[in-house]
Amino acid sequence: MRIGFIGAGRVGTSLGKYLSENGLSVSGFYSRTQSSAEESAEFIGGSASAYSGIKEIITDSDLIFITVNDGAIADVSHNIAGECRKYDIDISNKIFCHTSGALSSTVLSELKILKAETASIHMLLAVNDKFTSYKDFREAFFTVEGSGVPAEVLKKCGSRFQILSAENKSKYHAAAVFASNFVVALAELSCELLEECGFSYDDAFAAIRPLLKNNMNNILKNGPKNALTGPIERGDFETVKRHIECFKNSEPDITAKKVYAAVSEALIRQTGRQPDSETAEMLKNN
Ligand SMILES: NC(=O)c1ccc[n+]([C@@H]2O[C@H](COP(=O)([O-])OP(=O)(O)OC[C@H]3O[C@@H](n4cnc5c(N)ncnc54)[C@H](OP(=O)(O)O)[C@@H]3O)[C@@H](O)[C@H]2O)c1
Repeated sequence: MRIGFIGAGRVGTSLGKYLSENGLSVSGFYSRTQSSAEESAEFIGGSASAYSGIKEIITDSDLIFITVNDGAIADVSHNIAGECRKYDIDISNKIFCHTSGALSSTVLSELKILKAETASIHMLLAVNDKFTSYKDFREAFFTVEGSGVPAEVLKKCGSRFQILSAENKSKYHAAAVFASNFVVALAELSCELLEECGFSYDDAFAAIRPLLKNNMNNILKNGPKNALTGPIERGDFETVKRHIECFKNSEPDITAKKVYAAVSEALIRQTGRQPDSETAEMLKNN
């Protein structure tokens, strides 16, 4: 099976390198900018080529990963369908797979109409470098939605993956946001609140650094369920009440009050601790 990539960016190049290092055959790259495709093909080495047209890469590949920005996936799919109609290319034996975490394979419906198999895969990984991030792919957890062929490819690489339905794609992506972006937002909010208590920003960050590190180590070592400490875990709802009352009208306070109530609701459900009626009411009203 020959594997091609449309979109020679960070994910396309890293995935290409990862698959090639695992013995799979990479046909090459087509990209908006020819030099991006050339750079990626050279990095993969072997028989990987830089293609100057969509028609050529499709003809040469059995599985085509569409690794362009989320906003360009539908356009690229439309262009592929156009080329196939124009040059009468049969794609009924080809698989097209994008790598967006937020979109399902239904965004490739134009290709499905032309009888191609369609899929999406995603890796729970921050791929921030075109040439070094592939080293992290070995320990990445993947998800596959749609056609089963990309799952077979991942199996050959020894990667762990979960099969997802198209309807669960957005919920899956939201779950990833909780484990990544939201952790960052909560850390920043913590620094903002410490600044209101008189800390400089640098001291605020220095103060929460060991706490963040220790907490993350506990989560990674024992799992989130067993890592929890704090007033709700102890059933100390008097402290929870004092926390809610301390937030006034500054911008960080207004956000903090809402986030405090929402996250506390999650913790109350997760721990099974029941707040007294006054605390429950205070949390409900924020
Ligand atoms: N980065 C991550 O952490 C990460 C993780 C998981 C999944 N993803 C997903 O992976 C996909 C790619 O993300 P990325 O981070 O690799 O983005 P990226 O580094 O910006 O790469 C996108 C590449 O696609 C090319 N491109 C854009 N529009 C195109 C078009 N119309 N036709 C052909 N090529 C086009 C770009 O252009 P040039 O040719 O001009 O360079 C660039 O090389 C996205 O769907 C993203 O959601 C990203």
